Amino acid sequence: MPVQWQDYLTVPGGKAVYCECHRRCRGAFERQREIIGSVLDKTNPNVVACLGAGILNDIPYRRMVRSGATIHLVDWLPGITDAGIDWSIIERDEDGAARCVFCTLSEDRSAAYCRRFTGDGGSDAEVCGSFVAGKGSPFLCTAFEKGTQPICHTADVTGGYASAFAERVLDAVGDARSWKSAFGRAIALANRVSRQRTNLGIPDASVDLVTSSMLVSQFDHEPYDYFSWQVAEVLGPPTAKEERRLEPAVQRLRATLRTNQFDGHCDEIERILAPGGYCFMSFEMFVLDAAASRWILVKEMHEVLGLLARRFSFAFDILPEHELFARFVGQKAASVVCSLVLQARGG
Ligand SMILES: C[S@@+](CC[C@H](N)C(=O)[O-])C[C@H]1O[C@@H](n2cnc3c(N)ncnc32)[C@H](O)[C@@H]1O
Repeated sequence: MPVQWQDYLTVPGGKAVYCECHRRCRGAFERQREIIGSVLDKTNPNVVACLGAGILNDIPYRRMVRSGATIHLVDWLPGITDAGIDWSIIERDEDGAARCVFCTLSEDRSAAYCRRFTGDGGSDAEVCGSFVAGKGSPFLCTAFEKGTQPICHTADVTGGYASAFAERVLDAVGDARSWKSAFGRAIALANRVSRQRTNLGIPDASVDLVTSSMLVSQFDHEPYDYFSWQVAEVLGPPTAKEERRLEPAVQRLRATLRTNQFDGHCDEIERILAPGGYCFMSFEMFVLDAAASRWILVKEMHEVLGLLARRFSFAFDILPEHELFARFVGQKAASVVCSLVLQARGG
């Protein structure tokens, strides 16, 4: 049964799934939060846009809010950034006392972040009169109601390229009689929509710091996985022999999707960056082959470096040298993440 792209992006059991992911993965992202935090301190932006913000595991969100910047959070999974905000606002001290990052701002900013802010918690209060502690972890305030800030966008960060492909691919391959034909049509579509652009709802030249953290590595997975899953639903999985024959087509489609998504992503970053603004970008440059005890260079990310060099200048004075490569140990695998700070050419 074909599944429409928008339904595919709606994670069944959304909030509970995100919560579990937050609980399991947050610790692994601590170093990434620290690294982005130091870029934030060094660049002191008035406006920040976090592209692929997800559940904010790698975003030093409280630090960002305290910095006074206007914050845009962008992700294409409905509800994921809202869940991330819920779980990022309450800290507990050693005695278990709660501190809300929004309640400790100036009154007008507190009200912009939370509709339930009452301001009657007392002058040195860490939470306002509306505070109701949630049970268990992550810590939250069940009374919290999001206000006008931060500005959340449920949108595609590839300038609409990935969505344009995904929204049309069912029509393009739905009646294909073979995997070979499905791949041929998908490759043609991937090329046809390459100039497709839909801007994020963020004005031109308005952002002082863009973050694209652990995001571009994802362009290898979607919307390719959506395409292959949908075709398998109709034709059944390819046989082992078919799979071998299809390998060149698989590589071609993946590469076309990856490159066009990356181009669309960079176009959007360039469009929204204010003059002199910075872009923090990180991606997994090496992965550990645990069975062979060997680190492997991710060829696709090595290519990304070349593409970045053609479009941006590298700002190596922002991050300390020892932060450029950081080991990341996730749930399933270990990697070495490369972190770069970029500026538009002439920026
Ligand atoms: C590996 S996560 C990065 C970590 C994430 N900030 C977190 O806290 O979980 C990548 C995020 O980018 C989002 N993403 C991937 N491709 C996207 C696209 N084309 N447009 C918008 N969001 C995208 C995913 O939904 C996911 O939340």
